[in-house]
Amino acid sequence: MCHNCVAGLGPSAASRRSFARFLAAGAGLTVLAACTPPEAPAVAPSSSPSVSASPAVTSVSASPSPVPVESSTAAVEPPAPSPASPSAALPRQFSLTDPASPWLVVNKHRPLVPADYVPADLVQPNVQLAVSGEAALLNSTTAAAAEAMFAAAARDGVVMTLASGYRSYGTQVATYNGYVAARGQADADTASARPGYSEHQTGWAFDIGDGGGGCGFQPCFADQPAAVWAKANGHRFGFVVRYPWMFHPITGYYYEPWHLRFIGVEAATDMAARGISTVEEYFGVEAAPGYP
Ligand code: DAL
Ligand code: ZN
Repeated sequence: MCHNCVAGLGPSAASRRSFARFLAAGAGLTVLAACTPPEAPAVAPSSSPSVSASPAVTSVSASPSPVPVESSTAAVEPPAPSPASPSAALPRQFSLTDPASPWLVVNKHRPLVPADYVPADLVQPNVQLAVSGEAALLNSTTAAAAEAMFAAAARDGVVMTLASGYRSYGTQVATYNGYVAARGQADADTASARPGYSEHQTGWAFDIGDGGGGCGFQPCFADQPAAVWAKANGHRFGFVVRYPWMFHPITGYYYEPWHLRFIGVEAATDMAARGISTVEEYFGVEAAPGYP
């Protein structure tokens, strides 16, 4: 089955083989929640977030050129790049490099600066939690959007839980090292960001669960109601599925139907309307299949 394929751009046979090898390699391992950190230190949550919180507006160097796609780490044909960066069409522009910006693009070519960045406005959203401590936190803007999205999902009869939110630099060290110990570094790098390279450290991203079942952080989560609903409706609340199916040559990670990233309602809706699947393509930055 093809999840999240761009119309007319189904995955190549080589891509399917590559992903099948990835799944087979993981099948014999102890299940490691792809984004779930080890026990996190407790951080006192604050009260409900401010919906009006917004990041500082800074200029964006929008690039109209197609996204260059490197193919060094996977023997697959990458999806065709989008024709142009659409960001200039939006009324508001935000920084692509400031970790406090909703348009921050962090990937294997774009580390967080500073590497030990900590959001100034971490709060615990009023949603169904599957975690505690720092993992239950998001930045205030993302928390407000998550509250609205989870409530809308619930109105549609869909159970959605917050399965992993903020992750400090130190927690990411432990998470990534756990992957490396279990799978080796090459495989770890397809599922877990190195410290200083994770969206979870920004408070702009979180993983969802469905409150039960056996598909948490596994490929079959893509077919669960929470993932199906989030993929179809997340943009209405400012979220995108950050690591879509078969776009690992651009994002650097295999499909994570549970990992949502806030970029704002306007940008997420624009992305969806244009059928653009990755923030790399949308914001006109280079593909990041591997670390330099
Ligand atoms: N699983 C995502 C890539 C992370 O570790 O941030
Ligand atoms: Zn995640």
